Amino acid sequence: MSDPSPLYRVGRDTFETDEIRLQKALERYNEGKGLIGGDPSRRPGGIRPLPEQFSRAFRLLGAAPEKLERLHRFLQEAPLEIEIGSGRGEFILDWAAQHPDRHFLTFEVKTKLALRIAKRAQKQGLTNLWVSDDDARYTLPRLLNPASVDVFHILFPDPWWKPKHQVRRVFTPPFIDVLALLLRPTGLLRVATDVPGYARQIQQLLESHPDFVGPLPELAERFSAATPTDRQVFCDEIGRPYEYLYFVKR
Ligand SMILES: C[S@@+](CC[C@H](N)C(=O)[O-])C[C@H]1O[C@@H](n2cnc3c(N)ncnc32)[C@H](O)[C@@H]1O
Repeated sequence: MSDPSPLYRVGRDTFETDEIRLQKALERYNEGKGLIGGDPSRRPGGIRPLPEQFSRAFRLLGAAPEKLERLHRFLQEAPLEIEIGSGRGEFILDWAAQHPDRHFLTFEVKTKLALRIAKRAQKQGLTNLWVSDDDARYTLPRLLNPASVDVFHILFPDPWWKPKHQVRRVFTPPFIDVLALLLRPTGLLRVATDVPGYARQIQQLLESHPDFVGPLPELAERFSAATPTDRQVFCDEIGRPYEYLYFVKR
């Protein structure tokens, strides 16, 4: 079966935040407010489990204990890079193949896309990439130890335009705290976006965070061999500007 091509929309020119509504929603962040698909611990039974043939695809809740044990070992055995929102996985599949000595974990809430990545990784014989269709914001703080991540890649995150969806944004103060906690000292946060207002907001949030230093454009060179994501290819095709931001954990 051939893969459907991504249907990317150009997006808006303005980027707004309903501060009052967002603040109210964030006050309930620890109760799982804003998680995509809701708090998984409260989901009714009956959600179809991930197919068993993908030995490196998982959901934190519902994974067999042996699988979780394997995953925990994997997360500790080599420098760890994490991607949030992989889409079809063009970047991470190639980046993992280029770096067999490092371990990779990618999150994509759309199950079909996550499984597609798992399938391609299996076909390519990639043993250094695990995939999850969990909301990364739920799973990361529950799965990983502080200071255990070498690099976070967050490439073209959804802007979540609607006021009621803004709590789903990856770059909100509570989740930035999680990223800071999980990155090892001198670890790297690599971000791309084609939404100028979101870029400024991300930059402002990270610049005012005590644990981050940046932006550091000179770090781009380290990723010069990275395959562009589908969104980046789309932007290049239509001439839409985008920018990369690199921040380092103190
Ligand atoms: C705009 S797309 C970009 C995809 C890809 N990075 C690219 O540049 O082509 C953002 C992707 O992130 C996924 N996503 C959004 N929030 C997420 C989250 N909290 N955890 C995991 N995936 C998420 C969405 O399902 C979507 O596929």
